[in-house]
Amino acid sequence: MSNFKRNIIVTGGAGFIGSHVVRHLVNKYSDYRIINVDALTYAGNLANLKDIEQYSNYTFVKADICDFDIIRRLFSDYSVDGVIHLAAESHVDRSIKDPFTFARTNVMGTISLLEAARQQWQSEGNSFNNKLFYHISTDEVYGALELDSPDGDAPYGSEFFTEDTRYNPHSPYSASKASSDHFVRAYHDTYGLPTIISNCSNNYGPYQFPEKLIPLFINNICKGISLPVYGKGENVRDWLFVEDHAKAIDLIFHEGRVGDTYNIGGFNEWKNIDLIKLLIKIVDRKLGRPDGASDHLIKYVTDRAGHDLRYAIDSSKLANELSWHPSLQFEDGLEKTVNWYLNNNDWIEGVTSGEYRQYYTEMYGSEE
Ligand code: NAD
Ligand code: TYD
Repeated sequence: MSNFKRNIIVTGGAGFIGSHVVRHLVNKYSDYRIINVDALTYAGNLANLKDIEQYSNYTFVKADICDFDIIRRLFSDYSVDGVIHLAAESHVDRSIKDPFTFARTNVMGTISLLEAARQQWQSEGNSFNNKLFYHISTDEVYGALELDSPDGDAPYGSEFFTEDTRYNPHSPYSASKASSDHFVRAYHDTYGLPTIISNCSNNYGPYQFPEKLIPLFINNICKGISLPVYGKGENVRDWLFVEDHAKAIDLIFHEGRVGDTYNIGGFNEWKNIDLIKLLIKIVDRKLGRPDGASDHLIKYVTDRAGHDLRYAIDSSKLANELSWHPSLQFEDGLEKTVNWYLNNNDWIEGVTSGEYRQYYTEMYGSEE
């Protein structure tokens, strides 16, 4: 018998968002055992959790979520009663190069977890009481919105993604996440598995792997490496500080309605080029460079294939039903984020060696 009030598997806890979720839960709930299940792909890094790795309510298990036998055993060994599922392949550009890996991890891996949860919880014979499978998804499953007013101020269009928006994914990444969402709903509808899904907008903050826009560009600005802006830089993303996402996940896990979906976003739309210019300003100021010193690094490159034009989340359901609101203004979150990357050069160096450099060179030819 476990001494813990709850035994929760967090998958992908060594990744960007997962590490914030694990840290948040381990610190807040000393009576929960948090079991971080992660395969440690290029995106998983135990250095993200150094500060909590010795805590007695934290356990790390290196495992591939697609390995059903191992996952099934974990559920019974740890008497798991909750799952917060974040493990995924998460980068759109990689999905364009290698869709199979995305189908394997994001679809098959999710089915493996759902099936292990169903088998374990049904074997306990108490109608799934006090059990929850919480699946973390993305706004990208909804497709892309129009840009009605590209030259005005945000919001850049009248439409937003709501929980009722029809799925219309365009990239192999978003198609694989949409598929995993469908499987989660199928397990709810077919077997009665208690599930919740949330779909969040773009996250930013510490520990994000520097292949995503914000950490990649902070790193490049520091080093004087060019900034590859896809297309005209007019695409719009809705940005949320990662710790606000972690808090929303905690809230939904504890207070969300089983079978429901919640959209999470900050009503914070930015055109890529405006965001990039702001980032250059902040980094240059912090490095004591004159205003505009790094503007020349902007390099417009061939657009991403199937590049979604605009994402914008309507998170009013979460605000109205569970009183969740983002805590940080974007400019403050960005300052915080830039400070973290400038102060954690060792982390950047650690994750940008080896495989990543090879990938970057394949994508862009060279780093200059
Ligand atoms: P990430 O790429 O930083 O981390 C993914 C983690 O999953 C890594 O630790 C990796 O080692 C692990 N992983 C990958 N394949 C695995 C496998 N087969 N078995 C076990 N572990 C495996 O991703 P992230 O940005 O932190 O995203 C986490 C989740 O949140 C994903 O499901 C993603 O779709 C979703 N999401 C991300 C964003 C965003 O802006 N980053 C926004 C909305 C939703
Ligand atoms: P990204 O961080 O990859 O997130 P997502 O594609 O999931 O939204 O990209 C954010 C935006 O920035 C997206 O519109 C693509 C664009 N982008 C660039 O212009 N250049 C880059 O090098 C990268 C990585 C992204």
